Amino acid sequence: MTTQTPARPQLIDLHPPSADMHRLVQDGLQREPRQLPAWFLYDNKGSRLFDQICQQPEYSLTRTEIALLESAATDMARAIGSGVIVEFGAGSARKVGPLLEAMQPSAYVALDISAEHLRQSTSALQTQHPGVPMLGICCDHSQLDVLPDHPLIRGTRRVGFFPGSSLGNFTRDEAIALLRRFRDLLDGGPLLLGLDQPKSRSRMEAAYNDAAGISAAFAYNLLQRLNKDLGANFNPDTFRYEAVWQEAESRVRMALISEGNQTVLVAGEPWTFSAGQPLVTEYSVKYSVKMALELAKDAGWRWCQRWHDPADDLSLHWLEAAD
Ligand code: AVI
Repeated sequence: MTTQTPARPQLIDLHPPSADMHRLVQDGLQREPRQLPAWFLYDNKGSRLFDQICQQPEYSLTRTEIALLESAATDMARAIGSGVIVEFGAGSARKVGPLLEAMQPSAYVALDISAEHLRQSTSALQTQHPGVPMLGICCDHSQLDVLPDHPLIRGTRRVGFFPGSSLGNFTRDEAIALLRRFRDLLDGGPLLLGLDQPKSRSRMEAAYNDAAGISAAFAYNLLQRLNKDLGANFNPDTFRYEAVWQEAESRVRMALISEGNQTVLVAGEPWTFSAGQPLVTEYSVKYSVKMALELAKDAGWRWCQRWHDPADDLSLHWLEAAD
């Protein structure tokens, strides 16, 4: 008997060129407070560190969402229907498995900013689901205008999947723009959107500043990436990591705080940091159900239903394009 090896998923590389990255860094360093796009955190090393964060005892989001998908995927498939699953920010692609089983999609398309990570995760997933054709697209999905014209996508109903509360890493205006963009990219198809809900200050701050120091390493890696990819000369030892729950904004602010006055060169250009000045590495907005409903409406989506875990820590919201 011969066993058939599944084909390797194809990868389309649309990663922004480094000239764009330099411009984004300049823009980010001119903001008040200074802040760089969250996707900068996800080079190959950052993607691996994020996978480790997901395994920390304090960071329950990933485990809770996977358990919810495992228990509710059949119900979700019955309600939402099928087509080609398009996952935004797929990362390690560890969440989509139950949907692949329950929806039996015509194909799975994974979008992510790290090409190497995407190649490995889609290859691993392909061996587990040899019957589902797979395609990886390396891109910044917040800047993508159309999905590439590809036989796995063309003429097929698109079912969007955006788990992990990644929408929380965008400001409200950016989140609305992104959800509108997804509406266009999905061409009238539905979206299954995972959003984490607000919890106590102690839980929120522990989740983003774990005892093992992985969240801090993830933030420091941003400086190492700027040194490597843009010829910057950040000294990570001169910055301190902090994660603070900002109740009024319903978000955690993660930042590297300059320990003293210093000047850093980025692609030959000097940037001065004063003592105590933050470089925001990420915000993580937590959406109550009320906030999620308002956001969906403002972004041109009709809210249909949500599934949540027993403690009601997070939700998977089913949205349909509003007419
Ligand atoms: C990817 N994103 C949803 C994570 C979050 O929870 O905001 C990123 C993260 N950063 C540090 N820990 C987790």
